[in-house]
Amino acid sequence: MRIGIIGAGHIGSTLARHFTDLGEDVVIANSRGPETLADLVAEIGGGLKAGTAQEAAAFGEIVVVSIPYGRYRELPAAELRDKVVIDTMNYYPERDGQDADLDADATTSSEKVQEFTGADVVKAFNAIYWEHLRDRGRPAGDPARTAIPVSGNDTDTKNAVGDLISAIGFDAVDAGTLGRGGRKHQPGTPPYGAELTAHDLNALLNKS
Ligand SMILES: NC(=O)c1ccc[n+]([C@@H]2O[C@H](COP(=O)([O-])OP(=O)(O)OC[C@H]3O[C@@H](n4cnc5c(N)ncnc54)[C@H](OP(=O)(O)O)[C@@H]3O)[C@@H](O)[C@H]2O)c1
Repeated sequence: MRIGIIGAGHIGSTLARHFTDLGEDVVIANSRGPETLADLVAEIGGGLKAGTAQEAAAFGEIVVVSIPYGRYRELPAAELRDKVVIDTMNYYPERDGQDADLDADATTSSEKVQEFTGADVVKAFNAIYWEHLRDRGRPAGDPARTAIPVSGNDTDTKNAVGDLISAIGFDAVDAGTLGRGGRKHQPGTPPYGAELTAHDLNALLNKS
């Protein structure tokens, strides 16, 4: 599979490593240009290449967006249109600036990303601390396997993203649609940052 990753920080580079280890072809981008990612690309190796954000978006059958939410309007919307996009981003006003729509709870950050890009957005990897994403993968069936909440409007797309999550060592748990489901695993919610099994995460999501 071809995967694009926009954002090469804690989460983006951790996912680049996981996906490359699976044997996938990955193009990763940051804001400063591909040449600034030479060390990361050399260290991870395999099928990882650096590109611009436009190139990563055009390359990926699935594209991860993992930048500060406050900069989402810098994403290459034309290249992302109709793509499957995994949105890892969270709204932190102190970092991102105030977003009146989100402050009023009129919509969610991932719905705004979907509206801006015209992509089929799945919210995932937003609720797991990056070091846990890096270190805590376990084989399928391990009773202690950590679960990751996933929300989105298309079930087939969520299942495809869920397969990728499982391949890198985590269980995906469907939280619902991007709006109703996404609200259940935003910052400040019980699942956010919690390390839970699929059974326990399901129970928690069903309570809210
Ligand atoms: N850290 C966590 O544990 C964690 C967990 C779950 C979710 N998240 C969320 O996931 C997102 C990424 O978090 P992070 O901790 O990985 O951030 P980070 O370490 O600060 O990295 C941010 C990355 O985004 C890139 N970037 C910024 N603007 C860009 C643009 N317009 N186009 C392309 N790349 C751009 C930066 O590139 P430059 O350095 O070149 O500017 C950098 O590579 C955030 O929304 C965060 O809230 C974080």
